This record gives sequence, C-alpha cells and structure tokens, in this order.
Amino acid sequence: MNSPRLIQIAHDDPQAVRAELLAGLQAPVAHIAPKYLYDALGSRLFAAITELPEYYPTRTEAAIFSREMRDMAAALGPVDCLVDLGAGNCEKAARLFETFRVKRYVAVDISVNFLRDSLACLQREHPEMDVLGIGLDFSQSLALPAEVGSGPRTLFYPGSSIGNFTPDAALAFLRQAHAASAGGALLIGVDLVKPTAVLEPAYDDPLGVTAAFNRNMLLHLNRLTGTDFDIADWRHVAFFNSVDSRIEMHLEALRGATVRWSGGERNFAAGERMHTENSCKWQLDNFAALLQQAGFSRLRHWTDERGWFAVFLGFA
Ligand code: AVJ
Repeated sequence: MNSPRLIQIAHDDPQAVRAELLAGLQAPVAHIAPKYLYDALGSRLFAAITELPEYYPTRTEAAIFSREMRDMAAALGPVDCLVDLGAGNCEKAARLFETFRVKRYVAVDISVNFLRDSLACLQREHPEMDVLGIGLDFSQSLALPAEVGSGPRTLFYPGSSIGNFTPDAALAFLRQAHAASAGGALLIGVDLVKPTAVLEPAYDDPLGVTAAFNRNMLLHLNRLTGTDFDIADWRHVAFFNSVDSRIEMHLEALRGATVRWSGGERNFAAGERMHTENSCKWQLDNFAALLQQAGFSRLRHWTDERGWFAVFLGFA
C-alpha cells in the first residue's frame, strides 16, 4: 500500500495577513477577501449550506457528474494525474476515480492540515493509487511543485468557486490553470445566470445559515487581527447585482459601530456595508469565450435540465 505524500507551500506570515485584512477594513468601502469565510466553523457552516433546499449549486453539479461522468471520461481518455483544486474532503474527486481511471491524485487546498485525514482515508480505499496532498493558496498563484510530476494533468475545479473571481481575475486564473495543466485539460464547474427569485434565496436562506456563515467572518477576523467586532451589530445582506452578473454578500451595520484594534479604529455609520464576497454567474457562451481566451480548446460542456449549472471541459 502507498501512503500519501504531503507538502506545504509557504503560508503567508500572520503579520502580512493582519496587514492585508486591516488595509481592507480601512478602505473607503471596507472589504474582506472571501477566503476568510473558511475558518473551522465557517467550513462547517458552508457544508451545512450545501444541504439547504435553496442552495442548488452543489446538488445540481453532483447530478451532472453522476449522469455525465462516463461521457466525460470518454472525452478525457485515461487520467494519469488528477489535480483537485480546493479538494477539502476530496469527496467530489473520489467519485470520479474509477470511471476516469485516475493513477495519481493530487489534492490541493489552502492548508495541508485540511487534507491529512481525508487523504489517509482515501489511500486506504485506493491502496494502489499515488496520492499527493499540497497546501497552497492557489487563489494567489497556481504554480505547482515538481512533485506533481512532469506529464499532462487534468485540473479539476468544481463547485463554481471560479465565481469568486471577477471576470478579469477569472481570466488570469484560467491562464495559470492552462499553464499548470502541462498540456492536459481542465474540468470546471460554473454556476449560470438564472432568475433572481432562485438566486437570492440560495444566498439568503430563511433558516439563516448563510447569514451565520457571513457573520462568522467577523469572529475569524477578531482572532486574526485582534479587532473587537461585535457580531450583534452586523446583519447579512445578499443580492443579485444584474449589471455585474453576480451575487454580492455584504455585512451591514445595524447601528453606528466603532471597531478597534491595537494601532487603530474605524467608525461605521448605521447602514454602512463591508463587502465580503462576489459569486459571479455566467452565461454559457461567455464562459466558453473566457476558456478560449485562456488558451483552452476542443471545449465541451454538460448542464442540468434547467440550465442552472454547467461543467466545462477544455484541453490545453
Ligand atoms: C464556494 C464560492 C462556490 O459562491 O456559491 C455559498 C460560497 N457563499 N454561499 C458560492 C458561498 C455563500 C460558494 N462558493
């Protein structure tokens, strides 16, 4: 039996993280990068979101994969190396291993600690597979270490996490993905434009799980920067911005609030907002054009009956 190899690519140091967060907090319109939604509790709250009846992306994408997996495998050919971007518990990729005939599985997540247990478990179920875990913040740079091997790679980026990037940043990311695939392919999940009456409840559910997910960011920020946010002062706001074709999440001050930290403070007026996430919704043809601009060709895509979500395949 093989055992997983684990590699951590340098973390940002805590002082740099603090400086970046405080700069966002002091900007004219305060903003916090969405990756800070995912502390331990935030990751669990996100998992709960995926179970909500209103949050359609996860189960819609899963249905596309289970229905179309064989067709995808036929288009791809045997996958020598599958690189899973944002692997987490590795569940989505594991469902593809047999059909895609994966020989080497490379799980990438922001911290290798998130991967250790899931990879150990995965290795027991697939004793012959070559398993590698890489801790890397690929939202900054997608340079993969040499341990991944020199052959072509199939990059797997499900969940519509690409939606967190603005279109310009998405193009830059896809160009890096093109290079990182080393002549291989990209299989990517993309959430599509649909009626606002479907989009908005998915990001502002009646149970308040998404509100908790968004507001929890302030507790995470308090730990990372020493700020003294009182979550009772802040409410969750989510809406579809049709001009920029994206769901925006904000935190809005319910009343005047002062946030203090060692070395500074900021006042927020009642109703003032902090921007915490964009989740871009694409049209099929716009996303295909973006993939082509990034260098991918022989594009294929699969959608659900309602046309709510798409899985794209492109070759480098
Ligand atoms: C993990 C970025 C795909 O945008 O739907 C879910 C995050 N935010 N509910 C998304 C999220 C609020 C999610 N992604």
